[in-house]
Parts: sequence; C-alpha cells; structure tokens
Amino acid sequence: MTSHPPKLKVQLSRNERLQRLKEAFQEKYGEPVLFYACAPGRVNLIGEHIDYCGYAVLPMAIEQNILAAVSVNNSQTIQLANTNEKYQDFTVSSDSIAIDRDNPQWQYYFLCGVKGIQEHLGVSPLAGMRCVVDGTIPASSGLSSSSALVCCAGLVTMEANRQARSKVELAEVCAKCERYIGTEGGGMDQSISFLAEEGTAKLIEFNPLRATDVRLPDEAVFVIANCCVEMNKAASSHFNIRVVECRIAAKVLAKAGGLEWERVQKLAEVQEQLGLSLEEALGRVEEVLHPEPYTREEVIRLLGITAQQLSDNILSANTQQVPQFKLYQRAKHVYGEAARVLRFKSVCDSAPTDAVVQLGQLMNQSHQSCRDLYECSCTQLDQLVDICLQAGAVGSRLTGAGWGGCSVSMVPAEKIDSFLRTVREKYYLPDARLVTLEKHSLFVTKPGGGAAIYTEGK
Ligand code: GLA
Repeated sequence: MTSHPPKLKVQLSRNERLQRLKEAFQEKYGEPVLFYACAPGRVNLIGEHIDYCGYAVLPMAIEQNILAAVSVNNSQTIQLANTNEKYQDFTVSSDSIAIDRDNPQWQYYFLCGVKGIQEHLGVSPLAGMRCVVDGTIPASSGLSSSSALVCCAGLVTMEANRQARSKVELAEVCAKCERYIGTEGGGMDQSISFLAEEGTAKLIEFNPLRATDVRLPDEAVFVIANCCVEMNKAASSHFNIRVVECRIAAKVLAKAGGLEWERVQKLAEVQEQLGLSLEEALGRVEEVLHPEPYTREEVIRLLGITAQQLSDNILSANTQQVPQFKLYQRAKHVYGEAARVLRFKSVCDSAPTDAVVQLGQLMNQSHQSCRDLYECSCTQLDQLVDICLQAGAVGSRLTGAGWGGCSVSMVPAEKIDSFLRTVREKYYLPDARLVTLEKHSLFVTKPGGGAAIYTEGK
C-alpha cells in the first residue's frame, strides 16, 4: 500500500542538539530562532544508479540529518553560517543568487534549494533569512549529505516565505534543483529525504513519484561502514559519464527497436515502449550492444547524427571530452539491478523463512554488478565489503553513488557484536589514518523519519 507521508510541520521536542543550535544561533545573530527545519540523509539498500534511468529504488532515511535554525527579516539578504567551522559563513543578496558549478562548496548546495523553491513558487522578492546549519551526515560518503542540505534549504525557503507545499512536490523540486550544481542525479535522495517514515524502508517509484512501505525482516540489522575514501559527485565527472552512457545506450537500443529514439532518454522508456520484461530487456542488450566500448564516431554513425548534435543534445557540460562509452555493461547493470529491486521488495513482502539469506544474495549480486559492470566501486570499498562478509554479514554492498563512501551490510541480529568487532579490527585498526575516523564510520542504522519543520508552538 502506498502510504500518505506524515505531516511536514511538527511541534518541537527539546533535545540537546537543538538546544546547542539555538544557543549558537542567538550568539551569532543576537536574535531568537523563528523555526527549525531538518532533512535526513539516506542509505540505499538496493537499486544503485537506476533512478535516473527511470527505475524504482529501495532506500531508507538514516538518523543523521541536516538541521537548520532560521529567522526571517526584510533585508533581502540570505546569511548562512555552519556549526562546523570547516564551512565558512556566507552572505548573498536574495535577488542575485549565483551557483558556482566549478566550485561545489557547501553554501551552493543550500542555494540550489533556495533558488529551486523560489523559481517553482515564483516568489519575488524572497524573504531575507538568517540560518545556522548543523549537519551530522558524514560528507562525501554516499549518505547523501549534499541532497539533504538542498532539501533542508528548500524547506527553509518555503517556510520563510510562508508557503505550503506537499512533500511529494518538494521532493520533485529539490531533485531538479540539484542540477544547478551540475549533477544529474535521479531523485532518489531527495525523495527519501522527504517521504521517509520512521520504522520502514521505502520503495520509491518515479513518474509519478510515489513511496511504498517495505517492511524489513526483524531478525536482521543494517550496518553502515565508511571506507573513508571521499567522493564528491559534483567535483568529478564519473557520475555524469554514467548518466550519459545510459542515455546513449537507451537511444541505441530504441533505434534498433524501431522507436522514435530522439525522444527516448531513459532505459526504462525503451523497456516500456517495446513492451519487454526486464529479462527480455537484458536479452535485447545481448543482441544489440557489444561489450567493446563505443567510440564517439561509432555513436555518431549508429544514431546518424553529427558531432555537434552529440555534444549539444546528448552529452552534459562535464562529459564533452569523454572519448568512449561502455553501453553494454551499463545497460546490463541497469536492467539487472531494476529486477533485483523488485525481487527484494517481494521477498520482504512475502517474508519466507529464508528471507534474510535471499535478501543478502540480492545485495551481494548488486555489489558485484556495481563493481564489474557499472565500475562505480573502488579498491577500498571492495575490500571493506569483503571484510563485512567475512565478519558475518549475509549481504554487503556499496551504497550511494560509489567510487568511495559507504557500504551497507545486512547482519543477523545475533551476530552484530562480533560483526562490529571484526570489521573494526580488520578494516579500521590496521590503518592509523582510519582509527581516528572510525567513530563516525561504522554504525548500526534503522529507518528514520523524513524532513520536517519544527516550530516552538504557543
Ligand atoms: C547519487 C544520486 C542518486 C542516485 C545514486 C546512485 O546519490 O544523487 O540520484 O543516482 O547516486 O544510485
């Protein structure tokens, strides 16, 4: 059943972190906080790199989030500060918001949310705001800290300008507006940040966006482990290269299938328009595509387009120079992974006695496919996943964009203590640089709640 997302505005319940943020805000700006907004990070359990191809994914929100304290004024400036001194203060006039793609610093993610909501709601002039942001999601670790910041800023902007929109609408706007910083993500992170509910993972489907509860087995625990290699999606082109490879693969498959290929952008559209099952779509990949990488010339010839059309209509800004494209491998991953998501959901729904084993196998296959076909893992992440399996996980895989960041493992509840001990001993302790990072890098997680605005109430 598709559930209704919980309320966006909730009464504040006091806690230490909020109290500290309140004090930091008052000290910084010498005035009281008007409201708070928060948006969580996420861990994706299965369904990697397929949201932007039109396929459903299966994440859950984590407890770690971005929390902002806000006051509103009529100065038409936006003042930002962060409780982490690594992130500098920033002030901008609300009518001249510019996002520097070549320099993806923290404030630009915030401004993506501001600008996206401003444009969507057509608010002008924007209310002036003062904000102090406090984040607990480890940055560049694949747990979606940047999207949570965008979502939090979107929520802040909506509330500061006295507007009200549904969580689904906010998720859609925030997914689009992250493109201002140059990443072409598919919407999973923003959707789960808004639509999450405590105690349940979600199957997130797109077009139209909807979220369905997925009850995870009680006898398993999910553990996040950071391999401590940092990856910033916006600062490298790996991510957008994959997006473009999938787009080209979709067009080549569409053309071979006699579809109006110019209008096709996503692999899911090919499957749908040709009326294929995912299994059949995989067969089509075998028939139509070859494993050797495609050169630009070959793509141009196959699609019957000019080099200019390739640049203008298919490639993104930071993929203009890519010399070759692995279409077969990427399409195989996408159709295979899309099928694994559906199997994962159906195992959770039917809850057979060996559910944990079956889910674990799906997670392991997902990791292998990410590593070998999608090539979005890295040596340390593969090593960490292997250690997690040796330590007793029934399933372990990279989560998020990859090329660094975190793994997620499913561990039988009774093995959790020895699992944590072994991963610590084998991955973190042998490397002096990792020992200091370990505290925030290995933790048990359970499905957390979604974005919310907190008011003090009367
Ligand atoms: C990033 C993107 C998401 C998704 C994942 C990979 O987190 O923002 O939309 O594509 O990578 O699954």
